[in-house]
Amino acid sequence: MQRRALELKRAGRTIGLVPTMGFLHEGHLSLLRLARARCDVLVVSIFVNPSQFGPAEDLDAYPRDFQQDEKLCAQEGVDMIFHPEAGTMYSDDASVWIDEELLSRGLCGASRPGHFRGVCTVVAKLFNLVQPDLAVFGEKDAQQLRIIERMVRDLNFPVEIIRGPIVREPDGLAMSSRNKYLSATQRNDALCLQRALGRTRELVQKGVVDTAVLRQAMVELINEVPEACIDYIEFIDDESLAPDEIIKDRTLVAVAVKFGTTRLIDNAILNVH
Ligand code: PAF
Repeated sequence: MQRRALELKRAGRTIGLVPTMGFLHEGHLSLLRLARARCDVLVVSIFVNPSQFGPAEDLDAYPRDFQQDEKLCAQEGVDMIFHPEAGTMYSDDASVWIDEELLSRGLCGASRPGHFRGVCTVVAKLFNLVQPDLAVFGEKDAQQLRIIERMVRDLNFPVEIIRGPIVREPDGLAMSSRNKYLSATQRNDALCLQRALGRTRELVQKGVVDTAVLRQAMVELINEVPEACIDYIEFIDDESLAPDEIIKDRTLVAVAVKFGTTRLIDNAILNVH
């Protein structure tokens, strides 16, 4: 992959990368389209990265369907799929990792220790292997996106990061490969995420800016679903990810809720004007 990428670069071609863990859905496809329009050679990586899963997490169960992914990539005009084996990506005695130390502390980083260390390390490896000029990441993983932007800034990766908006099912559920785990009842229950974010938006529009009040309204709404178990609801600064007590322009509200064993995340940007 790296040899090919360096050849392409020498020939003056620009490379776009969409890093994924496969089981592609419309959300991924929207990222492919964003990248396709901005580069000569579009590379998609499909790699379920073991180092970002905790010991009790869903690495083995994570859905995979490479044939379907290949078909979708062909339809979207992808030039190369990079689909390495875990043993090729990581030496048994690998001992260098990338740790982002600030933005990774809260939210998913608090519930999933080591997760962002795995994400940063694999993304840095993918950048070295694929040599992209630009890479696209989805806004649904808001914390991941900001951590990667910070890594690119702090480690001077010559890669432009492009943010891809959240893509939702017609009923509002944010697209995720993990939606596949949901039973029909849980799938319906999961709509409370979108309802809670919508309610917050409405309240902010009505002038409610105290995040403790907004958080309580979200808790009540989500708790109407008996099976929903809140992991976090956070109102944070869009850049520093530090908590915001009062809503300002571009406060990010991020939620993680478990339905049975499936943990879903969603978020929205709030604006006071
Ligand atoms: O968002 C994902 O699918 C993964 O975290 C990523 C960025 C492909 C790294 O494994």
